[in-house]
Amino acid sequence: MGPGWSSRLLALSLLFLIDPLGILTSLLGWGLLGCKGSRIIGGREVKPHSRPYMASVRFLGEHHCGGVLFMAQWVLTAAHCFFNKDSSHALVVLGAHSPSDPEPTQQVFRIQRSILHPCYDPVTHENDICLLKLNRKAVLSSSVGLLKLPSKGVDPEQGTKCLVSGWGSLSDFGESPQGLMETDVSVLGRESCNKSWKGQVSSKMLCANSGSWKHNGFCTADSGGPLICGKEAQGIVSFSGTWCGDPKTPDVYTLVSAYITWIQRMVQKSKQAPLLPC
Ligand SMILES: *[C@@H]1O[C@H](CO)[C@@H](O)[C@H](O)[C@H]1NC(C)=O
Repeated sequence: MGPGWSSRLLALSLLFLIDPLGILTSLLGWGLLGCKGSRIIGGREVKPHSRPYMASVRFLGEHHCGGVLFMAQWVLTAAHCFFNKDSSHALVVLGAHSPSDPEPTQQVFRIQRSILHPCYDPVTHENDICLLKLNRKAVLSSSVGLLKLPSKGVDPEQGTKCLVSGWGSLSDFGESPQGLMETDVSVLGRESCNKSWKGQVSSKMLCANSGSWKHNGFCTADSGGPLICGKEAQGIVSFSGTWCGDPKTPDVYTLVSAYITWIQRMVQKSKQAPLLPC
């Protein structure tokens, strides 16, 4: 555990002294641990390399976003991870468990090409999806593997059990996890989620939460990482509210099945690839 832990524990224990009932502590605690779709809170560390399709996108050696390897040379992630960013400065690490330390299982790549969805809108979060072509094919092994994308048009129904995993920091104090984290979530009804988000949720988005926000919160996500339902990447971590565990703002994912045609077109045409206008 990093030094950040002790400062957070100290801050929370001071709060507890002046607030024995824990009201302030829970209010402020959630604020301190607050989230913007970038961290797993209240999850568990996965068995190392048990999710071999998880990619870690790093800038200057620091974990920036998650992603999922779905073909030997292609990673799917979120567009907001690369918006106004120079992908030539990024590295993609496969076969990792630690977010920072080198490991013998790791394969490190440069990005040959990053393809943001041409209709990505950073304000509405619409079409928050991005393809990364690696500079060479990954060598598949027990610690580097592929995750299937869903078929076109599949829409996981309300209550479907899924997993979300990532290396996002564990709190606003910025401490990194020791290894890849994950937590269980369930798919929410789109209509009620849309109401919670005041009409911001489109038919190409998917909502999910942990169902027990007091312990897990909704800060379950790591931007760009996959929402894994069954054995498919049904969602890409896109956005969530500022307040952890606030039922008013459940986590929102990009619905991968709505982009299968676009993905296939980009992967096939990546050599000549005239980018389609929005
Ligand atoms: C979400 O709500 C807005 C505003 O009421 C509506 O325009 C939009 O179509 C809704 N989205 C879905 C997927 O129903």
